[in-house]
Amino acid sequence: MKKRVLVTGGAGFIGSNFCNLNNNQYEIVALDNLFLGDPRNLNEGTTFIEGDACQKSDLESCGEKFDVVIHLAGTSSAPMFMDDGMAEGYINSVASFVRTIEFARKAGVKKFIYASTSSLYGNNPLPLVETQTVTPLNHYAATKFCYEHCAKCFYQVYPEMDIFGFRFMSVYGPNEEAKGQFANMISQFLWDIARDLPPVIYGDGEQFRDFTNVADIVQAMNLAINTPEGFGNKVYNIGRGDGTSFNDIFKTINTALDKSVAPIYIPNPVKEGYVRGQYADIDLIQKELGFDPKIELEEGIEALVKNLDKTKIKETSSDLIRHKFV
Ligand SMILES: NC(=O)c1ccc[n+]([C@@H]2O[C@H](COP(=O)([O-])OP(=O)(O)OC[C@H]3O[C@@H](n4cnc5c(N)ncnc54)[C@H](O)[C@@H]3O)[C@@H](O)[C@H]2O)c1
Repeated sequence: MKKRVLVTGGAGFIGSNFCNLNNNQYEIVALDNLFLGDPRNLNEGTTFIEGDACQKSDLESCGEKFDVVIHLAGTSSAPMFMDDGMAEGYINSVASFVRTIEFARKAGVKKFIYASTSSLYGNNPLPLVETQTVTPLNHYAATKFCYEHCAKCFYQVYPEMDIFGFRFMSVYGPNEEAKGQFANMISQFLWDIARDLPPVIYGDGEQFRDFTNVADIVQAMNLAINTPEGFGNKVYNIGRGDGTSFNDIFKTINTALDKSVAPIYIPNPVKEGYVRGQYADIDLIQKELGFDPKIELEEGIEALVKNLDKTKIKETSSDLIRHKFV
């Protein structure tokens, strides 16, 4: 019998990729309030329910018998917490997490998987290791810090449900259009360059991230789903284990598109808490789950170029500020 999986935030970027890559092997229900997601991200084979993971009744409307719940709903990046978004961001992320984990437990779910983030590490020494002390530098990271602590307390009381927290590094891949200005820099640079518009880069462009293809993120989730029961409450990094600079990403995208668009470099307007560079130590997830990232950066970018649909492009963060510098 196929495992039944509930994915909150299932019409979003990572959620829809999980559903589309797995709807043959699991019976999947995707719950999403369409705050940023788009049901058109989902291929046939996933049951989509429009609803709010902060609402007990909406979670209950998804059904009862799930083997696995994956919580990806939430306010999904630091800029969304700016100004008026701050309180709403906390309420949405923390309330949806607590409601969903409680729903999962009451439904007798065996495995609960949730999205944490590499943002928790800030500018910690590299490579980033799960054993490092983390001090969130922004509200977004603070919500994920809360998830991890809540999961720990929850597991102490209810050890019959395994819990996996994944600190995703910088994830890119298909189905990011709905995120627009909040999408990964790879997608946003690609959307700018494809329209012959110069992306705006903060600083010298030498900042670097552990860019990880969403298919590898899905691989890790599948490994967690298929662990033996009684695995415990775990937190793992998921990344490729190396860093690539914005300048190098930029060159790779120009090459893949056969273009030579030049960026605009501006002084970094983010004065506090800007992350200069990150890459993960992935030893733990390799040893304990057998994780093996497969998609090379060039390959992932070429696939995005091949499937690019310019009609779907929304405003990028560069679109919002370019006029000030050109
Ligand atoms: N993309 C990355 O690089 C990255 C890195 C680290 C962590 N994460 C985390 O992974 C998760 C998924 O991220 P994503 O990149 O797919 O972002 P996303 O914004 O595309 O996905 C989140 C989805 O949740 C939905 N949603 C938000 N609040 C909801 C609610 N209360 N009820 C139901 N649905 C709700 C949104 O409409 C959206 O479809 C998020 O928790 C994010 O913080 C992402």
